[in-house]
Amino acid sequence: MTARDRLIVALDLSSVEAAQALVTRCGDAVSFYKIGYQLGFAGGLSFARKLIGEGKQVFLDFKLHDIGNTIEKGTESIAKLGATFLTVHAYPQTMKAAVAGRRGSSLKILAVTVLTSYDDNDLATAGYRGTVTDLVATRARQAADAGIDGIVCSAEEAAALRRIVSPSMALVTPGIRPAGAATGDQKRIMTPAKAIAAGADYLVVGRPITEAADPKTAAEAIVAEIATAKS
Ligand code: C5P
Repeated sequence: MTARDRLIVALDLSSVEAAQALVTRCGDAVSFYKIGYQLGFAGGLSFARKLIGEGKQVFLDFKLHDIGNTIEKGTESIAKLGATFLTVHAYPQTMKAAVAGRRGSSLKILAVTVLTSYDDNDLATAGYRGTVTDLVATRARQAADAGIDGIVCSAEEAAALRRIVSPSMALVTPGIRPAGAATGDQKRIMTPAKAIAAGADYLVVGRPITEAADPKTAAEAIVAEIATAKS
């Protein structure tokens, strides 16, 4: 895998026109894009198909969670789009159903353990006992048992998760900020080089590229930093 393939640019934009403009500006500097609810429900699925047709990889960040049958059939449909990654919440039934639904396709399933907007108090309010750290570890083990392909985690969690799951499981980390970049609403951030050193396989980067005066140059700088980082 090249350094460029490790960079995933989050297309957090509300129209296909805006997404297309960004993709055009990034050109060959970016090979992998993430589409979430915002663009996905604004024509983003057709746009995903177009990107895939042009040789880009697509990560559909839809964080699915439902009964097994619905997840399995939904994942089968998503697999036909030709996307590379799909997120589901890390509940055992959901993960097993998604793995069954992606069988025979090149789609890989990523599990979201505990949303990073949750702290221990939020978990208690939602009816869980125990800490975020414990639940992340439990769900990572359950993801491995379910045959999940990778985990979305903060770069801070990456080193601990690397010890829990096998090297074949991809760790995909958002909250990445090159030195000197605006943090925005992200609280726990890491530079690209530090995240790779902590064990991340893929870095999800949004605003440092999408809001840059020159997105292509910003992307190239991150790819160069990934290339020199030691994992
Ligand atoms: O603009 P920024 O680089 O902060 O974007 C990060 C992307 O990663 C966004 O699409 C955000 O929804 C996503 N993400 C995140 N934290 C998580 C999971 C996903 O920031 N824990």
